[in-house]
Amino acid sequence: MFACDSFEGLAEDYEHLKAGTFRTAVPKLTGVRIVKGYFDGSLTPELAKEVGTVSLAHLDADLYSSTVTALKWLTPLLQPGSLLLFDELLGEDPAEARALTEWAAETGTRLAFLGLFGRHPSGHGDTTDRRGLFQVVGEEKVRNPPPLFPVRLRRKLASKW
Ligand SMILES: C[S@@+](CC[C@H](N)C(=O)[O-])C[C@H]1O[C@@H](n2cnc3c(N)ncnc32)[C@H](O)[C@@H]1O
Repeated sequence: MFACDSFEGLAEDYEHLKAGTFRTAVPKLTGVRIVKGYFDGSLTPELAKEVGTVSLAHLDADLYSSTVTALKWLTPLLQPGSLLLFDELLGEDPAEARALTEWAAETGTRLAFLGLFGRHPSGHGDTTDRRGLFQVVGEEKVRNPPPLFPVRLRRKLASKW
């Protein structure tokens, strides 16, 4: 498990939060490799090699610019089945949603939307903040589901309607 953060707080203002908010000491966590620094310097090709294929990426940088940087770096590390969880997909400023939409369109990444989850609003008194979970899907053709009834029975039923 890798945890990447500046630990210097937000790089820019976000909603009502000033740049520098969330600044904190670097924690020590067993089994977690902490990568300290702003993403544009810390998310390197060397780190990508070390990380390898990503099963789950939890994006929680709030800012549009930071989320775009993280997604671009993640692109070659994702494969069908990889999960992307956005901590604040929807909120007063849906910055993560904008970053996701643009990135998916630019890279042609196909995503299945798995769900929205409630969370405490971080903006100003609104209640719309939502976490969002997506899964990367591949190019495979989706097989049509089998018919519910045999064809003859369906025709018979249809003729009665
Ligand atoms: C809402 S806090 C979440 C922190 C942590 N995930 C948690 O739940 O405690 C947003 C974090 O994004 C980090 N962040 C924002 N932009 C960043 C960037 N460009 N590079 C590195 N970290 C960034 C901030 O330092 C801050 O800790």
